[in-house]
Amino acid sequence: MSIAEKFVAMEYGPAPEDSKEALSWLDHYSRRFEHFIDGTWRPPAAGAYFETTDPSNGEKLADVAQGSATDIDAAVRAAGAALPKWQALTPHVRARYLYALARTVQKHSRRLAVLETMDNGKPIRESRDIDIPLVIRHFYHHAGWAQLLEQEFPGYTACGVVGQIIPWNFPLLMLAWKIAPALATGNTVVLKPAEFTPLTALAFAEICQEVGLPPGVVNIVTGDGSTGEALVKHPDVAKIAFTGSTEVGRAIRSATATSHKRLSLELGGKSPFIIFEDADLDSAVEGLVDGIWFNQGQVCCAGSRLLMQESIAEPLIAKVRDRMSTLRAGAPLDKSIDIGAIVARVQLDRIKRLVDQGVAEGATCWQPQIELPSRGLYYPPTLLSNVHPTSIVAQQEIFGPVLATMTFRTPTEAVELANNTVYGLAACVWSESINVALHVASQLKAGVVWVNCTNLFDASCGFGGYRESGYGREGGREGLLEYLEPVWFKNAPALPALKPAGGPNLDEKSTDDSDPATPAIDRTVKLYIGGKQARPDSGYSMEVRAADGRLLGEAPLGNRKDIRNAVEAAHKASAWAKSTAHTRAQVLYYMAENLSQRGEEIARRLAAVVGEKQAAAEVSLGIERIFSYAAWADKFEGAVHNPPFRNVALAMIEALGTVGVICPNDAPLLGFLSLVMPALAAGNTAVVVPSETYPLIAADLYQVFDTSDLPGGAVNIVTGYTGQLLKVLAEHDDVDAIWCFAGQASAAAAKSYSVGNLKQVFTNEGRAIDWFDVKQGEGRWFLQHATQVKNIWVPYGE
Ligand code: NAI
Repeated sequence: MSIAEKFVAMEYGPAPEDSKEALSWLDHYSRRFEHFIDGTWRPPAAGAYFETTDPSNGEKLADVAQGSATDIDAAVRAAGAALPKWQALTPHVRARYLYALARTVQKHSRRLAVLETMDNGKPIRESRDIDIPLVIRHFYHHAGWAQLLEQEFPGYTACGVVGQIIPWNFPLLMLAWKIAPALATGNTVVLKPAEFTPLTALAFAEICQEVGLPPGVVNIVTGDGSTGEALVKHPDVAKIAFTGSTEVGRAIRSATATSHKRLSLELGGKSPFIIFEDADLDSAVEGLVDGIWFNQGQVCCAGSRLLMQESIAEPLIAKVRDRMSTLRAGAPLDKSIDIGAIVARVQLDRIKRLVDQGVAEGATCWQPQIELPSRGLYYPPTLLSNVHPTSIVAQQEIFGPVLATMTFRTPTEAVELANNTVYGLAACVWSESINVALHVASQLKAGVVWVNCTNLFDASCGFGGYRESGYGREGGREGLLEYLEPVWFKNAPALPALKPAGGPNLDEKSTDDSDPATPAIDRTVKLYIGGKQARPDSGYSMEVRAADGRLLGEAPLGNRKDIRNAVEAAHKASAWAKSTAHTRAQVLYYMAENLSQRGEEIARRLAAVVGEKQAAAEVSLGIERIFSYAAWADKFEGAVHNPPFRNVALAMIEALGTVGVICPNDAPLLGFLSLVMPALAAGNTAVVVPSETYPLIAADLYQVFDTSDLPGGAVNIVTGYTGQLLKVLAEHDDVDAIWCFAGQASAAAAKSYSVGNLKQVFTNEGRAIDWFDVKQGEGRWFLQHATQVKNIWVPYGE
């Protein structure tokens, strides 16, 4: 073809990236990779290897070691042995290692990009211009955090050996998101890459050698799900960080429930892409291309549900179709293609199956007439319209280049549709009215909201989900906290074993009843639901006894129905979260005032259980604690990030929703207040089970609440057997978090019972907390657990 003809045709010519360097790197290892353990390459104990292939042509790239429990054990031991020396280094020295990692990744960036594209099938444009630059940025940014660690996080220490399991969609980027914060905070690491894409993690292992990272600080064990499982179960791993499917996230949550492992989960999504009629439609369409066809839609935060305002649906769909027809699918190493290969046959089959199911359920499928390569795993960009909100393609993560479209009329309807999912990872809002966009953004249940932009990420901004998209954040200050623990908490002694949760022994009760010295019952309390005293559904009650065995009164035995009523009341009071922080502070101050007025009589009653001295301390410190959280209510604030593009990212602090609180036994009043007040200050509503040792405190407290302008339902109290009520609370889908500060068994039970809906769990891990010590009993640690960060990205400029 002549130049003149080419000019007229405007055909793309091939523009392949050179793969020579990456291939010679593979050849240097004879295309066979061992595990990277303790700074050296080690053959797999069982001698097994698996193949990794290029999905764009099916060609084998290399054999990679299949990790067994023995290999994982060796890696965890190496990480454990390296830990004290790594922690003994000054922050500056650790910062230098992270800086060296950033520099060296940068040096090898071209080879890494090519390797990533060959192993994963993603377009080279993406690995070269997005994945690898973000990897580098992550290491640079965290080199900075390593340097500032002691100044910015005084009183915190590393978790220890962390196990990290990553997926195949952004292999090196997910490695960076995991390893950089872990090392910056002084942890050592065992990382398992995904079986489809292990190569760049192995190239990173070589980079660790190149920079002279002390052996054992980073260990890479390759393998499939069984290798990941062995890592999750290893007893010497202090924390698991996982990115992948919600299904596996749930399995990991279940497998770690009876341990004290910290857990952060970054799971799936079904993110809404909302376009209002006043949006700049051409920009929105470009955003959409990035939102759903980036990385063939194999993106956890892909904008896979297009929600269009009805008035613009037709012209918008026409524009989307036009744009789809210009997308180019082809060899991923070609610099001018948009759509590469799907990572593996099993994923391709899954996409096909889900689309077929969607069509069977009534969706209309449209695909542009674009050419797909004859070889390799490809799926065309796909538009599904007439999708019912309950259809499988509107609800389930497809993880492919498939967009499901729906319409809405009003902003309220848009929010309802957007939140109609079990997930909550990301969302996009397109509107030229910043007021409307921010108003909608604040109502979306998602960890990240992009206003008039999409798929922007930065090391300084937290990324992570709400609800079944997981919990914990990666990036930013909040991401570092996932790898840190307060020093006092790490060293806290175990709580003494108590009588089993489930309540007093009935035999004991009958002997006590027959004791002629027992005085008459002087007090019977009720449940407190929706701001009113309520009789228990069961009609039964439990006896409450003083330290000397005297009968003090009776507390109702709450059951499943009472908890349900309490949760419903808590939901109805959700306006508490919308009240201003100033208002919440005022209500809390008023509570402190009212507790102070009744302090003496409350202390007198409490003294029968905990002694006079402790009772007096609980009341006076309780007043202080309420004051503290009244003070915090309007001071625990978000941040504004300045990522390196023309954008501000508003890190907004939001309440979790409804928190179920199981109070500690050792300080019936102070323990209650130490947990409920931070939850309230942050805007949560609570369903509280007071200590089994002295549930009568409920009556004293609800009188305080009643007289303090606290809206009915903001705090609900259900007395009864902790074990039974914990189960109901933890299993309840409308309880967003569970805080359990009783014994070790309850902590494990709270985690196990709540696997189903993956609610956030905050427990003392069976350790003793000194509620009377301000450093332990109050402050940011509690507020951090009472909130989640939503990053709202807003571009600026013309
Ligand atoms: P997956 O969740 O099975 O794999 C992610 C990682 O977990 C891999 O390293 C895998 O080896 C490991 N793993 C698997 N089973 C494990 C276990 N029992 N214990 C510990 N580690 C385990 O994801 P998969 O099968 O590759 O993809 C299936 C679907 O998951 C996708 O179609 C997509 O919907 C979703 N997914 C979501 C991702 C996200 O970033 N949110 C990433 C990858 C997949």
